[in-house]
Amino acid sequence: MPNLSTRESWGTRLGLIFAVAGNAIGLGNFLRFPVQAAENGGGSFMIPYVIAFILIGIPLMWMEWGIGRLGGKHGHGSTPGMFSRLWNHPVAKYLGVLGLIIPFVVLIYYVFIESWTFAYSVFSLTGTFQEYMTQHKTEGSSELLLMKNFLQGYTGVENQAFFAGTTLAWSFLSVTLVANAWILYKGLSGGIEWFSKWALPMLFVFAIILVIRIFTLDAIPGSNGTVWQGLGYIWNPDLSRLGDVDVWLAAAGQIFFTLSLGMGSIHAYASYLKPKDDIALSGLATGITNEFAEIILGSCIAIPVAVLFFGLSETITIAQGGSFNLGFVSMSVIFNHIEYGQFFGFIWFFLLFFAGITSSVAMGLPIITFLKDEFQLSHKKAVSILVGLTVACVIPVVLYNRFGYLDELDFWAGTFMLVLFGAVETILFVWVFGIDKAWAEINQGAAMKIPKVFYFIMKYITPTFLIVLLGAWIYNSAWDILIYEKSAGGGSVNPENIGVVTAARVFIVGFILLFAYLIYLAWKQHAKKEVKS
Ligand code: PHE
Repeated sequence: MPNLSTRESWGTRLGLIFAVAGNAIGLGNFLRFPVQAAENGGGSFMIPYVIAFILIGIPLMWMEWGIGRLGGKHGHGSTPGMFSRLWNHPVAKYLGVLGLIIPFVVLIYYVFIESWTFAYSVFSLTGTFQEYMTQHKTEGSSELLLMKNFLQGYTGVENQAFFAGTTLAWSFLSVTLVANAWILYKGLSGGIEWFSKWALPMLFVFAIILVIRIFTLDAIPGSNGTVWQGLGYIWNPDLSRLGDVDVWLAAAGQIFFTLSLGMGSIHAYASYLKPKDDIALSGLATGITNEFAEIILGSCIAIPVAVLFFGLSETITIAQGGSFNLGFVSMSVIFNHIEYGQFFGFIWFFLLFFAGITSSVAMGLPIITFLKDEFQLSHKKAVSILVGLTVACVIPVVLYNRFGYLDELDFWAGTFMLVLFGAVETILFVWVFGIDKAWAEINQGAAMKIPKVFYFIMKYITPTFLIVLLGAWIYNSAWDILIYEKSAGGGSVNPENIGVVTAARVFIVGFILLFAYLIYLAWKQHAKKEVKS
């Protein structure tokens, strides 16, 4: 059995809230959210988004904290052990395998993107963007297109003279990995909590500086857009696309991703709570802090300033052109044109980098706790194994990025499986473990009273919503993607990419099998020990 007496715990309640908020606030808030909102009609996206926050986001947040704390009480920091506590059946632990592999698969592409934000912050400071523009800009060439080429050159999607190969991308990736490894080595309270306590406030300060700068910019000659128009696009409710399933899927998918739900990561954080620590208020507080960063700060930066510079319809086109166009491409064009743009560019990308790190360490924690709790490995050993695995698995992400490897991982692990895992855990907690026990579990030690209506929501609405959502995902895109009718990145599948796309799937399935086997081994050991004692 896992050793309870040596389990670490969080330093302080405030530190814990910072750590979980740092877990949730990430690239999802500042890069993914604006793109999803712009692509899905702005005001028409926000209605399903808010509904999904209330009916899925908040209930699942409480449930995952509850499941996590319960698991921690019995020495389990990862979902296989937690699920075996919810359901006394040999299959239960295997259902938890997704809570190990989803965060890991997301981790290996997330750190790559995180390393671009670090690179871009350095490029901003050193004036690389200006240098590049002076070298490449000719009469009539589009700056957006040039910056897009820059990003593609840097990330190795396209060969390009300014970047001879991906050496630079590899270097920034290495530094990013070292930073992550270092925080994880330092441990829960001394690493994650300590880092979040100063990264998060700094991130907020940076974001507020940017918002103020953006909302005080003068009109741009040649553009008729305004920042208010950009904000209005997101916030004016638009009922016309409410019947569009895609908008609902995008909104619910964003709620999962941004709140780190359906990943096994919140569970791992919550497993280090003490049995009587509050969940109700802390869970809600971190959810709300994340939403503040997302819908207030996240919606006041990339979209309004793009509308100011390029107009509304061009901004929507930019967002539709690719996930990173708004955050990387249009932002670096814009910073090239404003006074002290090098400085503002630096704080934008560095903010992203900090938001990214406090999330990527959170994606690494489930496997670390699994190895420590179920195999009694030392913290150092567990972290080393995770880091080794990450280094090995990140290599194909970089090498095959141009063939759609990253998009494929992102669709299955970062979109589809979250909803699947969310549905599984909800049914286990609410229906198998039982809503009354679940409700008592969440309310134990509560520093606020959870409105009784959530009892009803958790029991009926959340699971129904999730099952419908899952069905709609399968019907709408997952099936077509699975049979190579559609590509995970949008559009049709490029025949040249089929090999790599298949390799991405084999990788995911292989990892599921590997970890299922490890779960099998661990439980065999547990059983032996029980017999002995
Ligand atoms: N919520 C994070 C974001 O918005 C992503 C994340 C997922 C973090 C899973 C931890 C675990 O970027």
